[in-house]
Amino acid sequence: MLKNWFVSLILIIVSAILIVAVTAASPGLSERLKMFGLPLGSNLADVGHLLEQHILEFVKLQTPISVLCYSLSTYVLYKLYYILFAPLYFVRKHGDVGYIIENKSINKKDVANDIKRRRKAGEVPPVYPNGWFRVIESRFLKVFEVKYVSMLGEELAVYRGEDGKAHVVNAYCPHLGANLGVGGQVKGNCIECPFHGWKFRGEDGKCVDIPYASKVPEFAKIKSWPSIEIYGLVLMWYHAENSEPLWYPPEIPNFDKMRYQGYTEHQVNAHIQEVPENGADINHLTHLHTPFILSGTDLRYSANSFWDWITHGWDGNWKQDENDKHIGELTLLHKLSLFGIEIKKLNLNVTATQVGPSIVHLTFKTFLGTACMVHSITPVEPLVQKITHSIYVDGFIPTIVGKFLLWAEAVQIERDVMIWNHKTYVDKPLLVKEDHLIAKHRRWYSQFYSENSPRLKLQKDTLDF
Ligand code: FES
Ligand SMILES: [Fe+2]
Repeated sequence: MLKNWFVSLILIIVSAILIVAVTAASPGLSERLKMFGLPLGSNLADVGHLLEQHILEFVKLQTPISVLCYSLSTYVLYKLYYILFAPLYFVRKHGDVGYIIENKSINKKDVANDIKRRRKAGEVPPVYPNGWFRVIESRFLKVFEVKYVSMLGEELAVYRGEDGKAHVVNAYCPHLGANLGVGGQVKGNCIECPFHGWKFRGEDGKCVDIPYASKVPEFAKIKSWPSIEIYGLVLMWYHAENSEPLWYPPEIPNFDKMRYQGYTEHQVNAHIQEVPENGADINHLTHLHTPFILSGTDLRYSANSFWDWITHGWDGNWKQDENDKHIGELTLLHKLSLFGIEIKKLNLNVTATQVGPSIVHLTFKTFLGTACMVHSITPVEPLVQKITHSIYVDGFIPTIVGKFLLWAEAVQIERDVMIWNHKTYVDKPLLVKEDHLIAKHRRWYSQFYSENSPRLKLQKDTLDF
């Protein structure tokens, strides 16, 4: 916020200087100066003098109350602009949400670490499924920019070359192990190591230049991961058997014409599969997500009687796409009830398309246009996930509506986060007939594991973490 104020102030000063300079330099100045009460032949110094007089008179008239009013109005205007027109941005770090902090003097990160250590993981499936995973939001990676990313048990450098294409390569340089993501420079479409300046081509990872060697050995290479950009994300293909991409995510119609309206990020202490499985667990919606969003995200208090008169209601179904087995589809009807009476006019149809193991896009059709929320889950550690949401809108949907949808989703997700952070994975759950979609979803999700998919047990045995 401070930065925005500073930029605005600089802009105002620069604009004022420019206006005065242009006015002074432009022809017909004398006539215009006359209009402001200055004699013909006035110069820049006269203009400055007149301006100074007006400012001094204005300042003399001010009282502490009027100054306070101006400051308050400026602040309110800025806040209004921010609420109505600026995209939403909030990031919840490790420990920020979904834990019980009994005592404010206890560090919330310590509480989160303690829960993470004590929680029994259960007999979890492999920790990194095969498929496309978010590396970074496209808008956070500019041309010539390099970022260091840890995910899927890999240390990676992601950069954007001069042709605008993003590349994902292993972060550690094969020469002496420097991290390309920390101080590496983009040169053309290559990345240059910060240690001795070796250059690697993003496309295939081949080393193309060693500044002090007469010849580049054929085997000098870094691993370059298959990547694409879609849904406003840089996605990377991960496959435990080292397969090239076996399928590609489908386009979202008209996505390029939609307007970006905000971003949220959460860190969750759980196995990756717990998050998408939520989509097929229709019965948790009625229990966990019924309390009104203003009743908060702390499950000890969210189901309080104060908000009983207004509730959310859900009908849903989940199925595998008939034409593409990598796609799962959740259809939801969101209903709002006041004093037990459903307000049908406020019904909202949502379609959530699960694209492989880690990407979901949700489409909300409204009479003002379509809103599209892109959701991603990336394992940053075997049992730690980063969940992101970005929202895009088209038609006449104002920014504030897009932001509201994103915020409402974040509130509901944070209720799940409190469950995920503390739960164990039940390999053989005790399901009733009405839970049949959970079993169906597990069968669908199992296609994303293969023989060499990394397992938690193996890693524990080898003391890898
Ligand atoms: S460690 Fe990268 S060039 Fe030497
Ligand atoms: Fe949920």
